[in-house]
Amino acid sequence: MESKVEEEASKSMFECCDIEYISYGGEHHLPLIMDLVDKELSEPYSIFTYRYFVYLWPQLSFLAFHQGKCIGTVVCKMGDHRGTFRGYIAMLVVLKPYRGKGIATELVTRSIKVMMESGCEEVTLEAEVTNKGALALYGRLGFIRAKRLFHYYLNGVDAFRLKLLFPRPESYFPDSLMTEGEPNYGHEHLEDDYHPLS
Ligand SMILES: CC(C)(COP(=O)(O)OP(=O)(O)OC[C@H]1O[C@@H](n2cnc3c(N)ncnc32)[C@H](O)[C@@H]1OP(=O)(O)O)[C@@H](O)C(=O)NCCC(=O)NCCS
Repeated sequence: MESKVEEEASKSMFECCDIEYISYGGEHHLPLIMDLVDKELSEPYSIFTYRYFVYLWPQLSFLAFHQGKCIGTVVCKMGDHRGTFRGYIAMLVVLKPYRGKGIATELVTRSIKVMMESGCEEVTLEAEVTNKGALALYGRLGFIRAKRLFHYYLNGVDAFRLKLLFPRPESYFPDSLMTEGEPNYGHEHLEDDYHPLS
């Protein structure tokens, strides 16, 4: 385990341009992702859950490296959900000494870009209502709070379901509904409670 001194040293030495972002590249990346997520997220995941995500949607998972060490990761999926093709961000972690430098934003943005290019209409995720950092990060990226889910997590904490809607092609809307200069977002709709892993 890395000592406090080593952690501080690596933090003070790193420049944002030293961080390398890599798309999930195979089984050798799996223990790196599991190690980060197990350390930093409250929800326990089995190896089957990790495999479900990275085997089916390897193009949506990214890892951040500093000097060969994995220091951040994002794990996602996408698919049809009640008639909507949508992306889902399952896990996002950046190691403590590397936080506040835009690394999570870069990881998430890369996944969202692939989702958008793949035809997703929206992206969702859940975050603990107490997780100020994650809520601020996703708020800055344009996510809205679509719903509060009571006792969503095993630790009993409530979640916010966050949602990012992508602009739709203009042809989806009759001319009468289009206002010049305004972004063209679809209507927000709430969904029934569900757990992504159930
Ligand atoms: C949440 C987390 C991924 C953020 O990682 P990060 O690399 O520090 O995030 P970024 O540097 O990209 O932050 C972007 C913006 O998010 C907001 N933000 C991030 N962490 C914040 C915090 N602790 N408090 C307030 N705002 C925060 C800020 O607005 C920040 O922009 P700014 O630095 O210009 O003000 C990281 O804190 C983490 O791994 N936490 C533990 C795991 C977790 O909670 N994951 C999310 C589950 S939903």
